[in-house]
Amino acid sequence: MSNYHIKHLEEYFQVYRKSVRDPEHFWQEVAEEHFLWRKRWDNVLSWDFSKPEVKWFEGAELNITENCLDRHLRTHGDHTAILFEPNSPDEEAQHITYKQLHEKVCKMANVLKDNGIEKGDRVCIYLPMIPELAIALLACARIGAVHSVVFAGFSSKALATRINDAACKMVITSDGSYRGAKKLDLKSIVDEALESCETIETVLLVERTKNKVVLKEGRDKWLQPLLDAADSTCEVVTMKAEDPLFILYTSGSTGRPKGMVHTTAGYMVYTAYTFKNIFQYNDGDIYWCTADIGWITGHSYIVYGPLANGATTVMFEGVPSYPDFSRFWEIVDKHKITHLYTAPTAIRALAKENIEYVEKCDLTSLKVLGSVGEPINEEAWHWYNDNIGKNKSPIVDTWWQTETGGIMISPIPFVTPTKPTYATLPFIGIQPSLMDESGKEMKGNQVEGRLCIKYPWPSMARTIWGDHERYRDTYFSAYENKYFTGDGAMRDEVGYYRITGRVDDVIIVSGHNLGTAPIEDAINEHPAVAESAIVGFPHDVKGNALYGYVILKEYGETRNLENLSKEINQQISDRIGPIAKLDKIQFVSGLPKTRSGKIMRRILRKIASKDTSNLGDTSTLLNPEVVQEIMDNSL
Ligand code: WTA
Repeated sequence: MSNYHIKHLEEYFQVYRKSVRDPEHFWQEVAEEHFLWRKRWDNVLSWDFSKPEVKWFEGAELNITENCLDRHLRTHGDHTAILFEPNSPDEEAQHITYKQLHEKVCKMANVLKDNGIEKGDRVCIYLPMIPELAIALLACARIGAVHSVVFAGFSSKALATRINDAACKMVITSDGSYRGAKKLDLKSIVDEALESCETIETVLLVERTKNKVVLKEGRDKWLQPLLDAADSTCEVVTMKAEDPLFILYTSGSTGRPKGMVHTTAGYMVYTAYTFKNIFQYNDGDIYWCTADIGWITGHSYIVYGPLANGATTVMFEGVPSYPDFSRFWEIVDKHKITHLYTAPTAIRALAKENIEYVEKCDLTSLKVLGSVGEPINEEAWHWYNDNIGKNKSPIVDTWWQTETGGIMISPIPFVTPTKPTYATLPFIGIQPSLMDESGKEMKGNQVEGRLCIKYPWPSMARTIWGDHERYRDTYFSAYENKYFTGDGAMRDEVGYYRITGRVDDVIIVSGHNLGTAPIEDAINEHPAVAESAIVGFPHDVKGNALYGYVILKEYGETRNLENLSKEINQQISDRIGPIAKLDKIQFVSGLPKTRSGKIMRRILRKIASKDTSNLGDTSTLLNPEVVQEIMDNSL
């Protein structure tokens, strides 16, 4: 199979060794070989994890869209860049070539400029999965504006928090969005959010659903007429290597969402290089990542990574269950998809349905399968491997994070022998380490500990927007001189990694990271609630679901508890979004606490998971009696 970029395991080991022996030399070669630079770097890397400060390709100048678009025009101008598959199969798919995409991005960039957006300004993008979303990202990048995409399933309050945190000047949104049989009214969510945002000067509106909307004069504008009038060429703004490219929010275990800041050159080099090698993408392949661009997976592996490689990247607007559970497989069949990159939660949901939905479609075009976002359980892995990959398309179980910018641990297809539930080996240039409780690195194999990375890689986030101290505290203070991921992992006898899950208070529900603190805050705002604690428990489709323990101000309150549960979930929906709703709510008289007043989540987690055989010593708790009560009434 000579068209693979890395051809066999020995070659992977060779390249890997080279990349860790002399990382600067290695990444310099990658940067030289593949990209278009306006000015070459003076220094490949400088770093200090204690500050933390990391700079890649300092002194270099470039524009990422020149690398994702202009560079391909001569050789790939008529190739499809974005293949858009709408929510409804009755609506025609769109093939947007590199030439067309270039023109669309230039026009949008000119519209942004005409509306006062300059280099360094933050633009919030709140759009469904339609081509304008990708175009908006690229248009920002072309003129050096920093995009901040907010997943269009977040509530108005969550949107407002993010707009205010980054002091965005503009919102790009649409009249509405289609999700399966539902039509959502995005514009009114934006309107509500903007009631508490002072910095927004302009709202640009894409017409998608023809929902009735009210335009606020002087602020809101339909995008299409502006695009029609815009010039179709737009010179790029030259960016410095470490200029911010985007902000993307991720949940933290405490308090406010963290605006992870990614910068230009390192992010480009790493996402492009990983895309090419981890998917073994070749010209003519049709690559489909089912994530939403509202998450990092969409940023790196729908937009930037694929486009930097001149690939064809599919954008799907809809959901796997609409019009029926065959939708994914019909899309694979219809567009002859070669690469499918999806999440375990989708696999589990589809595996529950009749196998007929799969079997009626021709999936022979598939070459490589991917998984991302949460640990893939053994059953789902086998179902994916047997029924979708037909035992011939390798599964790349890719472990990474919003913070890492790109894939960190993953098999290389046709090269690394896969093993169910294992993300296998570190990608080229990545140096993981497992740490024990006392903060010592665990050497050798067959060990389990906390996953850290001990050397910088080009696409790591550089800071949290407006809060560098939090960046240091969260990621660089637990272990000296190491980036701490928040995940636990084990290394097996041959050095393969298996991610065991979060070791902090982040819970992954259907592949979405949710922090316990913001959900608890939302619940506690309910007038009847005194205190609450959220934990995760295993769920056969979502991976984890949320279990809430709630103390009411008046215990034994006569109010209908069922209604109260609904109100609490509504409250969460309003504050954060429907993805954070609780599956179970148990009203309790107290929460198990240590003598210093800390909630013992470990105990609550075990009770929620019905794993109460070994609760550990509860006698040192402030209120041990409450444990029995909680167990007796557990749902
Ligand atoms: C989890 C998504 C196991 C992990 C790209 C990580 C995974 C968090 C995997 C980041 C995987 C992601 N196996 N766990 N293949 N991929 N995770 O920021 O806990 O949305 O820390 O980035 O998802 O989620 P995020």
